[in-house]
Amino acid sequence: MELIRTVKAMQARADARRRAGQTLALIPTMGALHAGHLALIEAARAHGDHLTVSVFVNPTQFGPGEDFDQYPRRLEQDMKALEDLGGVDVVFAPSVEEMYPGGQDRQRVWVDVEQLDAHLCGRYRPGHFKGVVTVVAKLFLSCKPHAAVFGLKDAQQFVILRRLSRDLLFGVEVVGVPTVREPDGLALSSRNVYLSPAQRAQAVVLSQAVTAARRLVEQGEQRVEGLVQTMLNVMGQAPDAHVQYAEVVDVETLQPLDRIAPGQDVLAAVAVFFGKTRLIDNAFVRAPGGGV
Ligand code: PAJ
Repeated sequence: MELIRTVKAMQARADARRRAGQTLALIPTMGALHAGHLALIEAARAHGDHLTVSVFVNPTQFGPGEDFDQYPRRLEQDMKALEDLGGVDVVFAPSVEEMYPGGQDRQRVWVDVEQLDAHLCGRYRPGHFKGVVTVVAKLFLSCKPHAAVFGLKDAQQFVILRRLSRDLLFGVEVVGVPTVREPDGLALSSRNVYLSPAQRAQAVVLSQAVTAARRLVEQGEQRVEGLVQTMLNVMGQAPDAHVQYAEVVDVETLQPLDRIAPGQDVLAAVAVFFGKTRLIDNAFVRAPGGGV
């Protein structure tokens, strides 16, 4: 496993592997790797025979007052976890200067998102997805993958990045991997380390809420108002949970729905604060009916 620090060296490596006929898969991360990230790497094996894991805490996707400074950085531990897992060829860990030459304030050209960031996390984190799509475009241009693997845990991010590849003609196959969870259902997240024991115990309400919504949709419930109320009721059982949103949206447009159509693919999603820690969860679900 090789550690590559510069865009130039990464591009040279990718070009050489492509010339040698290999298929390149990229797993973008911000490090502090956990079993959720490792599941993406396992899944990537089916999409490439040369695996690059990028580790870069991207400053431009954090808003003012968010946790950019506190975000856990532990490249050595991450490298060890990847060595133990095996099968990773390259860790691409550029500096901020390497990805934003002259600093992010000097950057004048960005990739932006229309409509898909109007709801869910995008509504509450202005500029977040502009930062995400811009850095992922840079990662695609640095690592030149045929396929890139992302977690469905960050559902809105996944849907937007699928459109990044399609709309900007990157031609990268964007692969989604189901959320890896703790035994009680809590989605693994690098931010779970911020939770106190009491908050951690209550955080189970996120997965309970989206699971309750999933079941109702599967049973034929079409009225979104009732689904949202169910999710709010479940999360209301956690005294320290401050709900930011509970929404049911179409999986392609990410627009909120009033009524779910038979056979429609929808996303039930929630975001919750415990103190300053913001957690998200979601369920992708297809409504029954709608023919074959
Ligand atoms: P990060 O939060 O480090 O997540 C890296 C990848 O791991 C993302 O695709 C995310 O959806 C996935 N992931 C996180 N927790 C998961 C879980 N419990 N189960 C399955 N997959 C999980 O997402 C980012 O970084 C950044 O926005 C990035 C795409 C790297 C751009 O900076």
